[in-house]
Amino acid sequence: MKKVRIGLLGAGRIGKLHGENLAHAVPEAELYAVADPFMNDATRSWAADMGIEKCYDDPEKIFNDPSIEAVFICSSTNTHAEFIMRAAKAGKHIFCEKPIDTDLAKIEEALEAVKKAGVKLQVGFVRRFDHNHKMVRDTVASGRLGKPNIVKVTSRDPDHQSMDYIKVSGGIFMDMTIHDFDMVRYLAGSEVTEVTAYGAALSGAGYDQYDDVDTAIVMMKFENGALGVIDNS
Ligand SMILES: NC(=O)c1ccc[n+]([C@@H]2O[C@H](COP(=O)([O-])OP(=O)(O)OC[C@H]3O[C@@H](n4cnc5c(N)ncnc54)[C@H](O)[C@@H]3O)[C@@H](O)[C@H]2O)c1
Repeated sequence: MKKVRIGLLGAGRIGKLHGENLAHAVPEAELYAVADPFMNDATRSWAADMGIEKCYDDPEKIFNDPSIEAVFICSSTNTHAEFIMRAAKAGKHIFCEKPIDTDLAKIEEALEAVKKAGVKLQVGFVRRFDHNHKMVRDTVASGRLGKPNIVKVTSRDPDHQSMDYIKVSGGIFMDMTIHDFDMVRYLAGSEVTEVTAYGAALSGAGYDQYDDVDTAIVMMKFENGALGVIDNS
């Protein structure tokens, strides 16, 4: 079987998770290289366990290797748009963690580069691929529950992120609520036309020093007339 040769960018929390899945659960994938500017012995040892041949501290080595067909962009949020454009230019297919960027113009530029290069791009909206969420969506879509007038999503992150993560995450709405925005659109089968949000830094963990919040309520109106609410902590 021909395998797709993959380069992983970023070997932090999610990079290692995707790496493990690719190495152990996707027989069509060959996880060949990993790049992280903070490459260290622990990551090298993890890479060896995953059967990864090449460890780099420079992502360019992945972009410049013509044998690599696809990249997994799992680095910090502020690198995604740039890496998408770099990968597209090098003709590589792309899986990119959310969000693409926090600036609409940069997102559009990245999507344009993907279109121009004719490569594939998938963004890490994982919940659509979770059978539990899919069952809720399929039940709503079947009409068995009647017309959905209220779409309500509650989600919690299991713990605080580090402040190093928070300062480049783009803030709770781009970093965490983004999954809930994806879910409400998926469940409602309709697009949001109006949105209002409140946020507060209530945990005392220091989110406010980066102009961020740790608690949020979002209210929405949908094109089909339904109302939505998301609460996050
Ligand atoms: N879809 C999801 O459910 C989900 C879950 C967690 C994280 N994420 C996303 O994944 C991304 C990473 O999150 P994380 O929790 O793994 O963070 P993390 O801080 O644990 O890891 C980020 C890694 O990227 C590396 N990095 C930074 N700059 C880089 C560069 N220029 N080139 C290559 N590597 C670089 C860092 O050294 C670090 O190892 C974020 O954008 C986050 O929003 C998505």
